[in-house]
Amino acid sequence: MGRVFIAGSINMDVVATADRHPRVGETVAGKQVLYFPGGKGANQAVAAARLGAKTTLIGRLGKDAFGAELRTFLGAQGVDLGSVREADTHSGTAIITVAESDNTIVVIPGSNELVSVDDVANVPLAKGDVAVSQFEIPLPTIAAFFTRAREAGATTLLNPAPAQKMSGELLALVDILVLNETELGFLAGVELSDSDEAARIIDVARGLQARADQTICITLGKRGVLTLAASEEFAVQGRAVKAVDTTGAGDCFVGALASQLADGVALRTALAFANAAASISVQRMGAGPSMPTAKEVAAVL
Ligand code: RIB
Ligand code: NA
Repeated sequence: MGRVFIAGSINMDVVATADRHPRVGETVAGKQVLYFPGGKGANQAVAAARLGAKTTLIGRLGKDAFGAELRTFLGAQGVDLGSVREADTHSGTAIITVAESDNTIVVIPGSNELVSVDDVANVPLAKGDVAVSQFEIPLPTIAAFFTRAREAGATTLLNPAPAQKMSGELLALVDILVLNETELGFLAGVELSDSDEAARIIDVARGLQARADQTICITLGKRGVLTLAASEEFAVQGRAVKAVDTTGAGDCFVGALASQLADGVALRTALAFANAAASISVQRMGAGPSMPTAKEVAAVL
């Protein structure tokens, strides 16, 4: 059984709930302010660990109260924090508004900006492991991490969120790219929306594919997942559930997928599992705390 190594962000999510989102320049009265452990890297690590994978997070926390709280939470979920160092700044913070079960997010990177090439230099990656990252830490760090992972025979999984321009060199280091239709459109330089046909979305993915053996998984929320792999294309059906908070659903999907792949589960089965896991996470408030256990996923599959 392989291990999951995640180089990524750790944030405190400061969440305001309201009946509706304010328009630009408008003030609305909120209902609650809530503090949830978040950050894409940390969320993915919590999902993988709760689902039973041996999970190591590589990241940086600030020397502040949020940092201490986040370390305690992540440790309690069974995430190995031996590679989470401190940085001389504030912890990553996300200011989130949740209304009508949808969110808006402003992320202030803080310590996440200081996750360095040195931080990933000694990660004990081995064959069969899964190396995961996202775009809330510096891209040169991700490139160094994935280069090492490939040398070690590990599988690299990138979730390029939030979307930003990346080099062809970095893209070529990715074995499995997991992204939503907006991110795919951004990277491919075309307009895509969730109402586009599957065939068009797959075509755009094919145009982005950096290597013939690169797998691209496009998550479409309740419409499920489209996958373009070396020798096949397939869809995994979505699940209709009543969402209360979609924050971290994509992270749940990525962490769950990594846990299954590290376990040697075949891609299609792993994707269906990840989809089920994400459908549970959207039914609960918060990012990190909403990640399901293996038992909970088994119950809905
Ligand atoms: O993907 C959701 C995450 O994005 C939140 O937890 C927030 O911290 C932002 O980084
Ligand atoms: Na959630």
